[in-house]
Amino acid sequence: MGSEILVTGGAGYIGSHTVVKLAEAGFRPVVVDDYSNSSPKAVEILQELTDTEIPAYPIDMTDAEALGEVFAAHDFEAVIHFAGFKAVGESVEQPLSYYQNNLVSTLNLLQLMEQHNCFKLVFSSSATVYGIPSEIPLTESADLGAINPYGQTKLMIEHICRDTAASNESWQISLLRYFNPVGAHPSGRIGEDPKGIPNNLVPFVMQVAVGRREKVSVFGGDWDTGDGTGVRDYIHVQDLAAGHLAALNHLQSGCEAYNLGTGQGSSVLEVVAAASKAVGQDLAYEIVDRRPGDIATSLADPSKATAQLDWKTELTLDDMMRDSWAWQSANPEGYSSSDS
Ligand code: WQD
Repeated sequence: MGSEILVTGGAGYIGSHTVVKLAEAGFRPVVVDDYSNSSPKAVEILQELTDTEIPAYPIDMTDAEALGEVFAAHDFEAVIHFAGFKAVGESVEQPLSYYQNNLVSTLNLLQLMEQHNCFKLVFSSSATVYGIPSEIPLTESADLGAINPYGQTKLMIEHICRDTAASNESWQISLLRYFNPVGAHPSGRIGEDPKGIPNNLVPFVMQVAVGRREKVSVFGGDWDTGDGTGVRDYIHVQDLAAGHLAALNHLQSGCEAYNLGTGQGSSVLEVVAAASKAVGQDLAYEIVDRRPGDIATSLADPSKATAQLDWKTELTLDDMMRDSWAWQSANPEGYSSSDS
C-alpha cells in the first residue's frame, strides 16, 4: 500500500489533476476541501478516473479541531497544500477574508503536521509573488514583491515556510511558483470550473466557445509585446501536476522555491487563435482598455526545476487548447452540467 498524501484543495482545478497523478504513481491521496471554489462531484469523478477510493473531508481548514480529526484518522507521509482563495480582484475587495482564510488555514496545517511528525510539504505558490517582474524571464532569485492581497498571502506563506524549515531540519518543503495553468485532463472528465464570470483568459475563451459568453475582451492592444497584447507563460495543468509529483519525490531538508512554467510566452491573440483552431471556429474578440494591475509580459525560467526536480514541460499551447475544449464541450456548465 502506497503512502497517504494529504491534498488540501484536492477537489479544485490543480489539486484534482494532481490527485490523479498521485494515485497513478501508487500513492493514496486524501482530500480536504471546503468546496468554496470546487465541487464534490470532482471527487466522485476522481474515484472513477483512478479506480480507487479517495477519502474526502468537506472541512474549513481555519477550523483547527476539524483539521486535527483528519490528521488523527490518517498517517500522512506528506502534504500537498493547494487550498486557498485565489482571485486577485476579489482579494483587493476583501483583503481580510483572504488573510484570514489563507494564512490561518496554513498555520493550522503546519502546526498539525509538526504534532503528527509529518514534515514533508509541497506548497502551491504563484508567480504573483514576483509582483512587477524585475527580470524577464524570471528566475527564483528575482526580486519578490506582491502587489495585491492574494499575492501577499502567498508571499507571507513562503516566509512562514522558510522560517519553519529553519527552525527544525526535519522539515522538507518545496514552494512551487506557478505561472499560468491552463488545459484539462485528456479524458475531458475534470477541468477548470471557475464560479461566476471567469477572471482568467482561457476559461473565459472556452465559455465564449461553448456559447456562454458573447466575445473575448482583450485587455489592451498597446502593450510592449509582439502583437501589442499581453504575453504569459501558459503551462498545461497535466505538466503542472507532474511537477508536484516531481517535487514530492525530490523533497530534501530545508525550503526551496521552483518556477513551474514552460519558458515560452504566448500573447492573448495567439491564445485566441489556438483556441479557435481547437474549437474549429473563429472566436469573437474585441480589444478594449487595459485591466488595472496587469503587466505586459510574465515568463518563467524553469531551469532550476529541470535541474533539481528532473522535470520539464512536454505539452504545447495546442495541447492546452485541445484539452480545454474537450473538458468545456463535454461540460458546458462545468461540474454542475454532470449533475443533470
Ligand atoms: C492572462 C492574460 C490578461 C482575461 C492570474 C493571476 C495569477 C495566477 C494566474 C493564481 C493577461 C489577458 C485575461 C480576459 C484578457 N493566479 N486577459 N481578457 O493575470 O496573468 O495571472 O492568473 O496564482 O496570480 O494574476 O492571468 O488569465 O487573468 O490573464 O485579455 O478576459 O490575458 O490581460 O494578459 P494573469 P489571466
